[in-house]
Amino acid sequence: MRDQAEQLRQRIQQSTQERQTKLVTVTSGKGGVGKSNFSLNFGLGLIERGHKAVLFDVDLGLANLDVLMGLTPKKHLFHLLEPDETIWGILEKGPGQLEFIAGGSGFTQIMQLDDGKLELLFNRLNPLQGYADTIIFDTGAGLSKESLHFMLSSDEVIVVTTPEPPAITDAYAVIKMLHSRSPVVKIRLVINRVTSEREGRMTADKLTMVAKRFLNMEIHPLGYVLDDVHVSKAVKQQRPFLLAYPQSKASRSIRDLVGRYLESSAAAKLPANGLKGFLARLKHFIR
Ligand SMILES: Nc1ncnc2c1ncn2[C@@H]1O[C@H](COP(=O)(O)OP(=O)(O)OP(=O)(O)O)[C@@H](O)[C@H]1O
Ligand SMILES: [Mg+2]
Repeated sequence: MRDQAEQLRQRIQQSTQERQTKLVTVTSGKGGVGKSNFSLNFGLGLIERGHKAVLFDVDLGLANLDVLMGLTPKKHLFHLLEPDETIWGILEKGPGQLEFIAGGSGFTQIMQLDDGKLELLFNRLNPLQGYADTIIFDTGAGLSKESLHFMLSSDEVIVVTTPEPPAITDAYAVIKMLHSRSPVVKIRLVINRVTSEREGRMTADKLTMVAKRFLNMEIHPLGYVLDDVHVSKAVKQQRPFLLAYPQSKASRSIRDLVGRYLESSAAAKLPANGLKGFLARLKHFIR
């Protein structure tokens, strides 16, 4: 049975070889602004629209994503280093056809691998190229070395903030840091927990104007998610809000945002290096 499943996976992978895989890192300055909830429900929103999204938990220490889904992952990224393990063996099935990879307890480990192990790990990640349309990395808050490497290697970085001034200030610090390390990195902004569309727009305007004025850089507002008691309810039930409360304000915001995201992505031509390019860049930063 396992062999058959494996063969099927390989066939699917071969048939989708030409598919573009986009790497997106979700981050924030301040902690607790809603990155993990956003990553999870954004991924599910993409799936609703027929896109294959794979979620990757890069959060150090706190295993956020699996708790939000009520899952206990059997395997994590570093199991890929075991003999005969494949990417299909470590992809966990989440709700709503979401697949995800647990980062394990020590993502810093990736930086400490010797060359042979790093090569093996990356080779075994490669089959995801073409299998997923979008790979979403959920990172911890702030600027750890690891998450910075992920951000700089990604095709896009989504910075999540709330409208509260400390969150905005910290988001700006992340944007500034990213820009100083890589002026070409594409930054998109999500304002979470807004009380109105107007508040979302005003917060985004503030950040985009400051970035333009002081860094001479364009950041692209992606949208906002309304503050909604259903988010916390869903968290307590360990279910994604998009599935638990599909008609809630937060779920509607996510769907609008996903729609806009797909429109703007279709309009923008991406660099064609996908996962391979990402891994090559990551290796460059690690070594
Ligand atoms: N749109 C929203 N409306 C209401 N509450 C929200 C919303 N988004 C997030 N929250 C609340 O914020 C809490 C923290 O969210 P989440 O765990 O996604 O943040 P995080 O940025 O991933 O945190 P960390 O920095 O610790 O990884 C949630 O448990 C929920 O109660
Ligand atoms: Mg989190």
